[in-house]
Amino acid sequence: MLQVNQTINDLVANANADMRRFYGKDGTVVAAAPGRVNLIGEHIDYCDGFVLPLAIERYIVVSAKPNGTSEARLHSSDQPEAIVDLSAPQEISNLKWSNYIRGVVKGFNDLGHEVPGFDACIVSSVPSGGGLSSSAALECALATLFEGLLGIALDIREKALLAQKAEHEFAGVPCGIMDQFASAFGEVDQLIKIDCRTSEPEMLPFSNPDLSIIVANTCVSHDLSDGGYASRRKTTEDGIAIIGKESWREATIEDVFAQKTKMGDITFRRSRHVVSEIQRTMDAVTAFKTGDLSNIGQLMADSHSSLRDDFEVSCEELDFMVEIATALPGVLGARMTGGGFGGSTVTLCETKHAQEVGKTMHERYLAKTGITPVIFATRPAKGAHLIS
Ligand code: GLA
Repeated sequence: MLQVNQTINDLVANANADMRRFYGKDGTVVAAAPGRVNLIGEHIDYCDGFVLPLAIERYIVVSAKPNGTSEARLHSSDQPEAIVDLSAPQEISNLKWSNYIRGVVKGFNDLGHEVPGFDACIVSSVPSGGGLSSSAALECALATLFEGLLGIALDIREKALLAQKAEHEFAGVPCGIMDQFASAFGEVDQLIKIDCRTSEPEMLPFSNPDLSIIVANTCVSHDLSDGGYASRRKTTEDGIAIIGKESWREATIEDVFAQKTKMGDITFRRSRHVVSEIQRTMDAVTAFKTGDLSNIGQLMADSHSSLRDDFEVSCEELDFMVEIATALPGVLGARMTGGGFGGSTVTLCETKHAQEVGKTMHERYLAKTGITPVIFATRPAKGAHLIS
């Protein structure tokens, strides 16, 4: 069974109900930003590669009202209230979730904007720890809220980069640009091809109603700041240094094989993933542009195997979910998506089979692992925006 996505209106109503409960008033400025799922191009956004994500119909909504002080007070579901002094330089706090707020405030301060005091409540339909960029959604929602509070509009790229910097400096994850770009640039019925060398997004129509995108959260959690992500990124930097080219975009598979001995096994396999995944993503972009999706299943399968065997960021649960999906009628392709070490898979399937595919994935995954997954379908959704 496919879980139903809450509408933005429902989320806004919930955020305002929380505003009345905690702060005795409705919000006057409301911002929303979506999570993302990546169709292909994994772990290459920090290697100058191409990625092909879309914003999903799962949002973080922040409802806020100015409070006339220089303090921000924020509530988020089960988290303790975060209180941030907006007149002081921002520093990392022990209250982990408040660091996203601090990081985004710092970004605005660096641009010369002073965020006015406000009270806010945050609600979310983006599963956290599900590899669907709930943190990028939070950063982009806050940045959009601050635009609303200040009555300004940043350039979208500037906003996405500001959010990425918050993630680097205040959450300790040296991520690439994919998540924040997807959350900021998302558009209804459009995939976002991002050239991560030039930071250029290009929209690719995805409006065929006969095709559906299914996201399956294995509900096995990961923490990207625990070192696995950073070590992968470091190894790719070693790889390109050994190859001796300025960018992965100039490296070929022959270059990787030529340096195999010098690289050693791990760096060799990580490098092979980068070069092959860049090629697969370019091929997938061609497939979506021409509408000939006959090779998309193979590209997704090869991407998954490469992430599992060469990049080593998959896990049993992800492998199993992909294996279940791939075998089902109506499925074009499936793979793990996002940073890995748990999180979600993405499945492309014919819409007429989507309910049955979701149901079978749910049943078989639960029977094998004892874990109840969260599975939903999504279409490419609208990126970060103000609601009022
Ligand atoms: C995480 C990071 C992204 C990207 C993916 C892997 O989601 O935040 O920048 O590197 O992992 O593709």
